Amino acid sequence: MSKFRNFALAAIIALPSVAFAAEAAKPVSKVAAKDYGLGTPATLDMYKAYLIDVRPDGQGAPVGKGTVKEGEKLFGDQCSSCHGDFGEGVGKFPVLMGGEGTLTRDHPVKTIGSYWPYASTLFDYIDRAMPFPMPKSLTPDQVYSITDWLLNQNNIVKDDFVLTNENIGTIKMPNGNGFYMDDRKVAEKSFWNANACMKNCKPTVAVTAKAISLNDPPKDAKAAAK
Ligand code: HEC
Repeated sequence: MSKFRNFALAAIIALPSVAFAAEAAKPVSKVAAKDYGLGTPATLDMYKAYLIDVRPDGQGAPVGKGTVKEGEKLFGDQCSSCHGDFGEGVGKFPVLMGGEGTLTRDHPVKTIGSYWPYASTLFDYIDRAMPFPMPKSLTPDQVYSITDWLLNQNNIVKDDFVLTNENIGTIKMPNGNGFYMDDRKVAEKSFWNANACMKNCKPTVAVTAKAISLNDPPKDAKAAAK
């Protein structure tokens, strides 16, 4: 709710200047920004700013390198307040290490070591989203160092391993083979047809299992909502 309100406020405040900018710019697409009085045409530089994804084979990784030692220090300064000194997680903040062998349990502990399939995803996630209060404040070298340290915490690389844009696509993750391509078109072919059941269908549908919310609100929040 408050998120929505903030967004609405920001939109109202931003409107006049955005509309003015749209007037001055030359729209590049057929649906011109000025048709709606909103926005400005994206420049190539703006477009490039969004092209920061790092793919599993390392494509897209920015040039840079980092060490476990440097990562340990950075993590202590910028991440441990929420994720703990070792990545064990503080309170309800995510755990970033351990959990091996728990994926088949009722309550799996999904971490970099137990679950994540690619090291590039880890780099990419930290690079675009962390530290939580200040995303995009780290240099590529700092992100390489923190990623290196987190891989080391999860026993994936040795203490002296130097992580670079050249080798990030070669790291073998413990659960790297635990994922497969979406095969629903084949495996669930019977559901994907135009002949939905319209007669003689099952009279009732029984609930056989319930999803367990891993994000149960704390007890006091439940009480407050009553
Ligand atoms: C103020 C608290 C806070 C700080 C500081 C913080 N994080 Fe996070 N982190 C979070 C929260 C909250 C999430 C979950 C975000 C979500 O699910 O949308 C998260 C998620 C993550 C995840 C994904 C976990 C998973 O398995 O899904 C990684 C990796 C991570 N943070 C790394 C870092 C690193 C590295 C830093 C320091 C550079 C950092 N975080 C600093 C709060 C924080």
